[in-house]
Amino acid sequence: MSDWTRVCTREELPPGQHRALDVDGAQLLVANVDGEFHAIEDVCTHDGGDLAGGVQCGYEIECPRHGARFDLRTGRALCAPAYEPVAVFPIRIDADGVVWVRDDRWD
Ligand code: FES
Repeated sequence: MSDWTRVCTREELPPGQHRALDVDGAQLLVANVDGEFHAIEDVCTHDGGDLAGGVQCGYEIECPRHGARFDLRTGRALCAPAYEPVAVFPIRIDADGVVWVRDDRWD
């Protein structure tokens, strides 16, 4: 089973913001959506764009390359030109308010 990777504290990522991080070579994006933390793969399924460079609006993030939008909660593609979802990853927040993520695709 893969290990958990520390992302930040709750306070370091306020609602409406997101950040990218490398987890064992995988590019992930962790977002705060109205106080709930979510993690998706930071690779657009249209043509590999860097989603973390895009604009977050509520639970949606827009790819800066061609405008596809994804649901940060589910990874679902919400509009063309992307049709396939991005991977989602488990998040946990410990008693100290530290946010952790894990790439569980290969468990
Ligand atoms: S690479 Fe993301 S919309 Fe084209």
